[in-house]
Amino acid sequence: MNIAICYLSQHHGNTQKVVQAMAQGQDVDLIDITAAETADLSAYDLVGFASGIYAFEFSPQAVQFLKDNLPQGKPVFFVYTYGGLRGTGCKHAVAAAREKGCPVLGEFSCRGYVTYGPFRLIGGAGKGRPNQDDLARAQAFFRDLVSGAAP
Ligand SMILES: Cc1cc2nc3c(=O)[nH]c(=O)nc-3n(C[C@H](O)[C@H](O)[C@H](O)COP(=O)(O)O)c2cc1C
Repeated sequence: MNIAICYLSQHHGNTQKVVQAMAQGQDVDLIDITAAETADLSAYDLVGFASGIYAFEFSPQAVQFLKDNLPQGKPVFFVYTYGGLRGTGCKHAVAAAREKGCPVLGEFSCRGYVTYGPFRLIGGAGKGRPNQDDLARAQAFFRDLVSGAAP
């Protein structure tokens, strides 16, 4: 199965750690949205979109990337990390995928280290997250997702 995960991870690389753990030992292309304005996703059987939560939502840039690049009807899944208040989570990205008739197979989220804004004053929150347990849960989620999506 050909799988791509398009990710945006601009704060501490927390989301990148999660998608890298998912891709470990698997045949997955990781596409950094900040480095690629466009991507040809037509050859993939399954496409993931991953982002940190910034100002209570999945990165609008990642949602726009999905709108611009995701082919109609492509099965998708979502991944996000957050500091403590996940806000709308991946709701906007899910809505954009559904508008394209794409089946949403699942979503995974976990805490991530944050030093933004008021968190900086207290030395950050979620130190060490995602941790080994988060990454193991991410891998289990991904394994189940892939085996469920296999023809
Ligand atoms: C500009 C900015 C805004 C953020 N807003 C939120 C927020 O609204 N809720 C939250 O739980 N975490 C928030 N965070 C924390 C991030 O969601 C968290 O650190 C996440 O793991 C970052 O992922 P990344 O390292 O992959 O970018 C924010 C971080 C930044 C830099």
